[in-house]
Amino acid sequence: AATRRYEWEVSYQFKSPDCVRKLSATINGQTPGPTIRATQGDTVEVKVRNSLLTENLAIHWHGIRQIGTPWADGTEGVTQCPILPGDTLTYAFVVDRPGTYMYHAHYGMQRSAGLYGVVVVVVAAAPGAKADDAEPFAYDDEHHVLLNDWWHNSTYELAVGLASVPMVWVGEPHSLLINGRGRFNCSAAAVPGTCNATSPECDTPVFAVVPGQTYRFRIASVTSLSALNFEIEGHEMTVVEADGHYVKPFVVKNINIYSGETYSVLIKADQDPNRNYWLASNVVSRQPATPTGTAILSYSGDRAPPSTTPPTGPAWNDTMYRFQQSVATVAHPAYVEPPPPRADRTILLLNTQNKIDAHTKWALNGVSFTLPHTPYLVAMKRGLLDTFDQRPPPETYAYQGYDVYAPPQNPNATTSDGLYRLRFGSVVDVVLQNANMLAPNKSETHPWHLHGHDFWVLGYGIGRFDPAVHPASYNLKDPVLKNTVAVHPYGWTALRFKADNPGVWAFHCHIEAHFFMGMGIVFEEGIQRVASLPPEIMGCGETNGGHR
Ligand code: C2O
Ligand code: CU
Repeated sequence: AATRRYEWEVSYQFKSPDCVRKLSATINGQTPGPTIRATQGDTVEVKVRNSLLTENLAIHWHGIRQIGTPWADGTEGVTQCPILPGDTLTYAFVVDRPGTYMYHAHYGMQRSAGLYGVVVVVVAAAPGAKADDAEPFAYDDEHHVLLNDWWHNSTYELAVGLASVPMVWVGEPHSLLINGRGRFNCSAAAVPGTCNATSPECDTPVFAVVPGQTYRFRIASVTSLSALNFEIEGHEMTVVEADGHYVKPFVVKNINIYSGETYSVLIKADQDPNRNYWLASNVVSRQPATPTGTAILSYSGDRAPPSTTPPTGPAWNDTMYRFQQSVATVAHPAYVEPPPPRADRTILLLNTQNKIDAHTKWALNGVSFTLPHTPYLVAMKRGLLDTFDQRPPPETYAYQGYDVYAPPQNPNATTSDGLYRLRFGSVVDVVLQNANMLAPNKSETHPWHLHGHDFWVLGYGIGRFDPAVHPASYNLKDPVLKNTVAVHPYGWTALRFKADNPGVWAFHCHIEAHFFMGMGIVFEEGIQRVASLPPEIMGCGETNGGHR
């Protein structure tokens, strides 16, 4: 196995990803950042220098489990102190499993400033073996599609709005980007002179194909808010991978993808080669107010936009259409890793929107999450137990009689930075229960992401989860392993994982604004097995023996 070394300088620069100039967080001057490409078993070493001048930084390697290196997870407040302006931190970790992953900033709402990219881990083929011996499908070439939503407002403007009384919601994105490019209609630009339709930075991306060949499209979504539907005009896609795991192949016209998810789909370039086709990304699950994000599938090699209208995707509010895709995503028959038959512990988490001192928040079982000033990993390892709330957060909620279709009867909640301590090696079930928001007749999709693990997706439902009834319907035969999963409007999602990765791990809604408003929890497991922590992750709170 090799060591792949990268040196990254993170700085703000003026960029025009959708033709509108915006201060963007870049890596070596680029947004999206460079693609990390490694082979299974390699060590990836990224030396990150924070040149943001006045802003802290942390970078999370989303989907990489960090076995033996929990301090390299890149989650500010959980696994490390932030990298201060002018400072450097080297992340080093092993990419132990092939698949499609991503990285992104994990400090405040920094991700939405443009700091993200794709991680591709390819199969380590035995010497002399053909690549497709190692994977349950074959293709001639591959393309990467990084999907995102984009606001012209600064990250600070968005974050301050969320924290204000009354809350100023971020609103729908101005543009949808594909590989960091979109096209805003310059005649609608808020500030005259900031939109340049001929900037090469907003050229529509082109994906070249050769007639007759099969392509693997690796698709990743780093959206701050939007659930997306991705379609390639005139071409069916066969879904073969989700979050780094092979799935039982299924064919779709378009694919729903939530923030934090990755998929691989195969497409065959078997359509009329005398024209080009649209790639389209559309908002689903929220009433769209953002134009379709587009790119061009080019048979001829030219960048001519097709004369057709880009696909507009399924009806945005067709929950069952998206629910069916979730249910259809199961493990590939040759790659089933059966889950343990039962759990040692079940945590039932009611997701609600709440009010705390007139602030709008999100809470789990009535507790809205806040990050401590001293990262848990350091605090737990050193026994600095006065640095966060020692009361464990609630395991369940009063589900009997709770009407998930009505706004919460009591919208109050509390805040806490307490965490869930898991017995090392135990099997944990988490059931995420969605509900109505503060306003009537509203429930959103929440993509939940677990750090440090993959989990088995045991089941989905719409309505209230009943612990006495629904576990009987769990899929224990061929559930897919994922690291991010959707909880559909008014629905529930049940997942299972083994607490066997020593460290402290965030579990949160991947909608940046929701995590910012408290929609997350943290697990600790096997802290005494964590090797001694590198001093580079220290420097804040009580990590240096100082005072808070
Ligand atoms: Cu991709 Cu904690 O996030
Ligand atoms: Cu959410």
